[in-house]
Amino acid sequence: MPNSNTSMQGKVCIVTGANSGIGKATALGLAQMGATVVMVCRNKVKGEEAQNEIKEKSGNDAIDLILADLSSQESIHQLAENIQQRNQQLHVLINNAGGVNLSRRETMDGLEMTFAVNYLAPFLLTNLLLDKLKASAPSRIVNVSSESHQSGYIRMDDLQLEKGYRIMRAYGQSKLALVLFTYELARRLQGTGVTANCLHPGFVATNIGQSGVGSIGRSITKLIFSGLGISPEEGAKTSIYLASSPEIEGVTGKYFIKSIPVRSAPISYDETLQRQLWDESTKLVNLHNVGATSTAPSR
Ligand SMILES: NC(=O)c1ccc[n+]([C@@H]2O[C@H](COP(=O)([O-])OP(=O)(O)OC[C@H]3O[C@@H](n4cnc5c(N)ncnc54)[C@H](OP(=O)(O)O)[C@@H]3O)[C@@H](O)[C@H]2O)c1
Repeated sequence: MPNSNTSMQGKVCIVTGANSGIGKATALGLAQMGATVVMVCRNKVKGEEAQNEIKEKSGNDAIDLILADLSSQESIHQLAENIQQRNQQLHVLINNAGGVNLSRRETMDGLEMTFAVNYLAPFLLTNLLLDKLKASAPSRIVNVSSESHQSGYIRMDDLQLEKGYRIMRAYGQSKLALVLFTYELARRLQGTGVTANCLHPGFVATNIGQSGVGSIGRSITKLIFSGLGISPEEGAKTSIYLASSPEIEGVTGKYFIKSIPVRSAPISYDETLQRQLWDESTKLVNLHNVGATSTAPSR
């Protein structure tokens, strides 16, 4: 049923992982507000199904789909290139795609999978799109983190978790890294009209934990999440709020739960760690002199 709220008309929003769970509900919510939505998905069939569903439910035809595997840096570069070449502005980038992995797996770039998809992909994609975001300002970057970042820690000498892998250790590290990145990015973007915030969506009944965990893990996570989680629509509310609400115009460098800014883990405010992680990440993704990496304030 088309919505009468057209407050996002004329705005172009990218949502990664938009074929499922929170990402799909976020894309639908923004589509219902009249936004042009660019869905980033890795699977053509699932992506097209979700695209058609969103068009139908929102009555909004301006729903595009780009295929990209965010575990591959080459694919992220192609995605950014594709977006650059479109004769379109970019007002909102929602780094939503993510997941968990029962055992340690490496990407084709030789990086630990959870760290690569949940953190390095947003780091690389955001930096590659910064010029476009700046040119489209006011614009917003929204990073979907998790309260699991509270138990995460960063060991700069073992970011790839070669010395000891555990599923929640990997997930917590990746989500803490995303919060540290958000705060450093927000500082680097001061005065550009581009804001960066992050959030915990709640405990949401989605497909999270359904891939990368084996059949037993799949059954367990399905039982837990489907029984206890809130709906994806409920889980998408904070992402949609940060992407669209006039209330937070200009608000940057904050962590939100239920659309309210709250304190994240004390370690996430460590500016030395934020900078160290940023510098190491530029090396891991071979990113130099791009976006905010070249505009770092001298300290
Ligand atoms: N559910 C929760 O309780 C919860 C709590 C805190 C934070 N989160 C975060 O919320 C975000 C959305 O998760 P969700 O719960 O909605 O789970 P979901 O239903 O599994 O959705 C995850 C999305 O990310 C995509 N994705 C995963 N790896 C990808 C890759 N390599 N390339 C491209 N896309 C990829 C998935 O694509 P496929 O469908 O092809 O797998 C899917 O579209 C994640 O960042 C998650 O960590 C969730």
